[in-house]
Amino acid sequence: MTEILQPDSEGIAKAARIIKRGGTVAFPTETVYGLGSDALNEDAVKKVFEVKRREMSKPLIVGVASIDDVYEIAEVNEVAKKLMNAFFPGPLTLVLKKKDIVPNVVTAGLDKVAVRMPDHEVPLKLMEKAKTPIVVPSANVSGKPSPTKLEHVLEDLGGKIDAIISGECRIGIESTIVDVTTKPAKLLRPGAVSISELRRYIDVEFIDRDSYGQYEISKPLYVFVGEDARKKIIEFVADAEKKGLRAAIIARKKVHGRRIIEVGESIDEYAKKIFEALRIADSMDVDLIVVEGVEEKGIGAAIMHRLRKAAGERIIRV
Ligand code: TXA
Ligand code: MG
Repeated sequence: MTEILQPDSEGIAKAARIIKRGGTVAFPTETVYGLGSDALNEDAVKKVFEVKRREMSKPLIVGVASIDDVYEIAEVNEVAKKLMNAFFPGPLTLVLKKKDIVPNVVTAGLDKVAVRMPDHEVPLKLMEKAKTPIVVPSANVSGKPSPTKLEHVLEDLGGKIDAIISGECRIGIESTIVDVTTKPAKLLRPGAVSISELRRYIDVEFIDRDSYGQYEISKPLYVFVGEDARKKIIEFVADAEKKGLRAAIIARKKVHGRRIIEVGESIDEYAKKIFEALRIADSMDVDLIVVEGVEEKGIGAAIMHRLRKAAGERIIRV
């Protein structure tokens, strides 16, 4: 059974007890919902791989409650110090040389561990209470878009995990990941901390290593980007309808005369709503999904990175 807990001191105390005895708890973070278990307990970590149906070869991020705690689990170099001072707590994950205390199962046998300090009081208090670092992968079944609401976690993991703490995810897109063990550092996944923000502190190059994974969406998904995107979407959908095909449209604001899934005019609102929109579109009785993309600037680069994982080759620049 999966218990729903409130994000108050009672709920967090209960969740901490579950973590201490090796259980699994999902909770909101500032990015997306995470699925936690005691990062130093091998059996507890294995449960996370199992319920997410995640390959054991894909390592997990470890969450910490403070910058000091990073030193317990990893070797911290000068580049890491600069970034931690600038961005912790926040939507940035650092890949560092791991210490022996971290079980190999967490890092899929790698000698590096990914670490982040969430900017959300629920996981911070939970880790303080449980007195241990907690793994923080997204709380979805592998291949699905990350969950940004409690109902998404229930959809994917309901009945399979011990508890879910309710609460809001402010950003809606997963953290930026940077490997700081190499020179220059490597940006492995774009997120809310943009590459230009990182470059104010360190030398970093973009290695798109994360985009091989595709979302398992059950219909072909097309993304239109550029000045004429909205006009082209209307034409494209009208053409599809002439062929008897029905489309779900994800757009920033209403498209004349059509029902659409709105993701918001501001880029921040878009980031917060896009994963939910993908889940809704995927569950609709339609033949294809058409999405209005965004400019690849700031968090827009992270949004387009995720949309490429959903669209594959079907990105249309207009
Ligand atoms: O915002 C986030 O980062 C969310 C919240 C819940 O914390 N978590 C998240 O975790 O997105 P997950 O497991 O869905 O994605 C983690 C990514 C994976 O692509 C994984 O391969 C990469 O981080 N990763 C983890 N450990 C790594 C390591 N040691 N070296 C390189 N990549 C690593
Ligand atoms: Mg994930």
